Amino acid sequence: MAERPFIVGNWKMNGTRAMLSEARAIDRGAQRLMKVEVALAPPHTLIHAVHREAEQIGVGAQDCHAEPDGAHTGDVSATMVADAGAKFVILGHSERRQDHGETSKLVRSKAQAVFDAGLKVILCCGETEETRDAGKAEAFVTRQLRDSLPTEVEQVGERLSVAYEPIWAIGTGRTPTVEDVAAMHNAIRALLVELYGEEDGAEIRILYGGSVKPDNAAELLAADNVGGALVGGASLTAESFLGIVIAAAELQDR
Ligand code: 13P
Repeated sequence: MAERPFIVGNWKMNGTRAMLSEARAIDRGAQRLMKVEVALAPPHTLIHAVHREAEQIGVGAQDCHAEPDGAHTGDVSATMVADAGAKFVILGHSERRQDHGETSKLVRSKAQAVFDAGLKVILCCGETEETRDAGKAEAFVTRQLRDSLPTEVEQVGERLSVAYEPIWAIGTGRTPTVEDVAAMHNAIRALLVELYGEEDGAEIRILYGGSVKPDNAAELLAADNVGGALVGGASLTAESFLGIVIAAAELQDR
């Protein structure tokens, strides 16, 4: 695992102000687990409130528009989420690709906009079960990333993370084998080195996402080239999310 693992909670379309107590508890827990970088991506409506509560954890957004401003009713720009306190934006999540028809080309222009706004990016990729069963998962994911990642990025090593989230593992309780996770992360690492060079390509953290829970986090996080986790359901309570953060911290002690 990377020097300092990155454990990120994606709250998806969950959370009202009543959930701020969980964010506070997560922040307090993270203060005791400084070997791990912990962050939350609440819905847009809670970014500022979570940012105000957070002393230790990073706060990010789950998406943004590719333009900085303009006539785009209902949309929110990278500049706006930055103004609310976000330090990063998750982009290209399979739920956005599926629910909103987001193409890799659009994801790339959003990533450029996020970098231009001075924020970091967590760029998601992942295959369907059909693609995996056909033995085409690595080819699909590396193609998707090639098409989604901007090529000219300053300090890309520290500003970009990639999240590998097999679609069939999201919210299902199923996960790939540790060997399959390692094989995919190694393939992604090779692509990142090809795109960004040895130094930056090696520095970019590759997170695993899809049914990460306190009881499977240690084995998934210990796999080759896994630099952290992107967590959905299990990030909604401090108890389960901190269970994952503790597993990451314990691996650092090994
Ligand atoms: P679950 O952890 O609920 O499977 O969700 C994973 C995910 O999509 C995080 O972005």
